[in-house]
Amino acid sequence: MAGEHLLEEVGRFDGDAEILQAWRDGMAPEPALLVSEWADKHRVLGSRGSAEPGPWRTVRTPYLREIMDALSPAQAARRVVFMKGAQVGGTECGNNWIGYVIHHAPGPMLAVQPTTELAKRFSDQRIDPLVEETPAIRERVAPARSRDSGNRQLSKEFPGGQLVMTGANSAVGLRSMSARFLFLDEIDAYPGDVEGEGDPIALVEARPHLRLATEGVPRQHTDHRRPVADRA
Ligand SMILES: Nc1ncnc2c1ncn2[C@@H]1O[C@H](COP(=O)(O)OP(=O)(O)OP(=O)(O)O)[C@@H](O)[C@H]1O
Ligand SMILES: [Mg+2]
Repeated sequence: MAGEHLLEEVGRFDGDAEILQAWRDGMAPEPALLVSEWADKHRVLGSRGSAEPGPWRTVRTPYLREIMDALSPAQAARRVVFMKGAQVGGTECGNNWIGYVIHHAPGPMLAVQPTTELAKRFSDQRIDPLVEETPAIRERVAPARSRDSGNRQLSKEFPGGQLVMTGANSAVGLRSMSARFLFLDEIDAYPGDVEGEGDPIALVEARPHLRLATEGVPRQHTDHRRPVADRA
């Protein structure tokens, strides 16, 4: 069995079986969870950011399962678009994906809200609780209060990656990073033109591997914007 040859070299001793087992556990890859499975296993909703605090249960909002699972890296989808009504869990899909990325698929991730002000609010009300209430995430993101911790209002570092939050009204923020994962929340509220540089979604065209866009159902057909499928 793996590791036995090491014991042959150093000789057997008290507790050697436990040490070998701990070593094997450390070597074993993390189970390949889907994003919904990750959320059911690890995500805790805090009272600060959620209407229903407690452990996340996908059965509570079963229509989100397929959308979240399409965001699992092993899946074929590269672009996931969620056209949705109000308050149905669109942002939480993205939050679960963020938690999953931090824990199981670390890499650079950009989360865009319609404005920088909303990105700050998203950070305070949704991301800080996600970090604080979910033990697997808390272990990986430094506490906000420690100096030079890599945990700032609009950027959270974690082993193997970084989450940056920005507003669709900031050309600098959108251009600032080449993200592997891109979460575009509420794209219907993005400006058509950002600081004279054109479509904010085109500005983040850094060829991310995977992206999620949430968009409210258009209220009328006079919407000047291109269809969702062409935009995200
Ligand atoms: N499966 C769930 N279990 C418990 N609470 C949930 C679940 N899904 C969503 N919620 C809660 O429902 C509320 C609305 O979720 P969320 O903000 O993600 O919706 P949204 O579609 O992004 O809303 P909006 O249209 O305002 O952007 C939040 O308080 C969220 O925590
Ligand atoms: Mg939302």
